[in-house]
Amino acid sequence: MNREGLINKIKKERTLVLIKPDGVERGLVGEIISRFERAGLRIVGLGIVRASKKLMDKHYPKTKAWVENLGNNMLKTAEELKIKIDLKRDYKVNNTYELGLKIREWLINYMCSGPIIKIALEGPHAVQTVRKLVGKTIPSMAEPGTIRGDFSIDSPILANLENRPVKNLIHASGNQQEAEYELKLWFKKDELID
Ligand code: CMP
Repeated sequence: MNREGLINKIKKERTLVLIKPDGVERGLVGEIISRFERAGLRIVGLGIVRASKKLMDKHYPKTKAWVENLGNNMLKTAEELKIKIDLKRDYKVNNTYELGLKIREWLINYMCSGPIIKIALEGPHAVQTVRKLVGKTIPSMAEPGTIRGDFSIDSPILANLENRPVKNLIHASGNQQEAEYELKLWFKKDELID
C-alpha cells in the first residue's frame, strides 16, 4: 500500500457501537453519542432498531472460545471480589462453557427486549479509541471518565444470579475484523455515508 493509501486507511477506520436497551431506557443516548463526537469520531451511520433474535444470534459469536470466555470472566470477577462460586449449586451448570451459553442466551433475549441505537463511527484507530472511551466490560471495574465507569454499576455475579446479562449500556466491536463483520450485519451499504 502506498503512503496515500495508508493515510486513507488510518483515517477511515470504522467501528460499530450499539447502545443497548438499558442505555436507551435511561435516556443516555445523547450523552453517549456526544462523548464519541467530542473525541473527534465521525458518525457515518445511525439508526434506531428493534433487533430480532436471528440478528442477535448472528451478532454474538458461537465459537467455543468466545462462549467459554463469557463464563470465565464471571469467575474471574468473583475471584477478584473474593466471592466463592459453585457453578453447579449457584448456576445449575457443569462448566464455564455451559455458563457462557446461558449468558449468551440471556444476552440475546435482553438485546431484543427494547430499542437499540446502532452507530457506525469513523476515525483514526476508531476501534481502539471507542473501546477506550467505553471502558471495561464489567461496569464495577470500569474506570471513572469512561462511559461505563460514569454511568453504570452492575455486577456480573448479581446479574447471573438474577438470570440476566450484565447491563453495561454499550456494545463496541472488539477488533477491526469484528468491526467489519458487525458493520455489514447492522448496516446496508447505502446506509453508510462516505
Ligand atoms: P458486549 O460488549 O455486548 O459483549 C458480550 C456481553 O456479555 C458484554 O457486553 C456484557 O453485556 C455481557 N457479559 C459479559 N460477561 C458477562 C457475565 N459474566 N455475565 C453476564 N453478562 C456478561
